[in-house]
Amino acid sequence: MLIDLHPEPADMARLVVEGMGRSPKQLPAWLLYDAEGSRLFDAICEQPEYGLTRTETALLEARADAMAAGLGPGVVVEFGAGSARKVSPLLSALGPAAYVALDISADHLAPACRALQARHPDLPVLGICCDYSHLDHLPDHPMLKGQRRLGFYPGSSLGNFDPPGALALLRQFRRLLGPDSRLLIGIDQPKAVERLEAAYNDRAGWSEAFAHNLLTRLNRDLDGDFSAADFRYRAWWDVAQSRIAMALVSQRDQEVRMAGRHWPFRAGEPLITEYSYKYGPAAFLELAAAAGWRGADRWSDPAGDLSLHLLVQADSDDQRSGP
Ligand code: AVJ
Repeated sequence: MLIDLHPEPADMARLVVEGMGRSPKQLPAWLLYDAEGSRLFDAICEQPEYGLTRTETALLEARADAMAAGLGPGVVVEFGAGSARKVSPLLSALGPAAYVALDISADHLAPACRALQARHPDLPVLGICCDYSHLDHLPDHPMLKGQRRLGFYPGSSLGNFDPPGALALLRQFRRLLGPDSRLLIGIDQPKAVERLEAAYNDRAGWSEAFAHNLLTRLNRDLDGDFSAADFRYRAWWDVAQSRIAMALVSQRDQEVRMAGRHWPFRAGEPLITEYSYKYGPAAFLELAAAAGWRGADRWSDPAGDLSLHLLVQADSDDQRSGP
């Protein structure tokens, strides 16, 4: 079952022009994920240096029972479900009333829901194609009626947002999930700088190809004239901001054209393709609290690389959710 709310296609040219006007120049991270970008990102997730996906998947498998007990009864609502593969152990442990996958791409959502339904034949499954960051409320569907909503947002995707954007998104989740809801969210943590930088500079070169694919996309979709050879990929840990910055660095003074405009680049000037903010448990809970969420539980891998946080609405008086 799929509901298509026909999310308005983002005004790519406008957002790119806005980002190119910043200092440093910065493009929206979601632009990285065209069909080829999604394929390259999947390859990144399999690199030995990039442990996030493997570690989180293993943690979900190992602690699914405890997480299910913390979530309690209700409907699981996954934000940005993508291929919807990570949620399976949780669904098996929890046996929720239904599973609702939200994603902006109808092309991904339909096959993901079909594959998930095949793995969980008795589970009511609903896909909603929407832009959940701008949605006013979830559609009034029988599967959601009268049920507590259990949000699921794995993958540390929150890291792509700057702190004000992350705060806004956590508030939006709170609104969409409603009273007495919970949110299970995966957050990557700061760690040794060598490991962080290696994860975004894999030896096989997939991270670099992922960033360079952005230029291919801009050339194609906005009639750009970027030359990949003139931009070198770099990723570095910015400890003051607690983020990895990923950039394409101009190798010479040059002028680039796209969307009918021209932009100058100096030699050495970065074009930020993506930030990846990392939060230790205390820093994340502070952010969550500002958005109206309270930490109820937390699971971490043995090395302490990342956490899955269970959040409850801060004004909830549910005794089971005490810290
Ligand atoms: C999908 C945002 C979690 O920040 O680790 C990985 C994206 N980009 N390598 C991350 C990414 C390059 C990833 N997130």
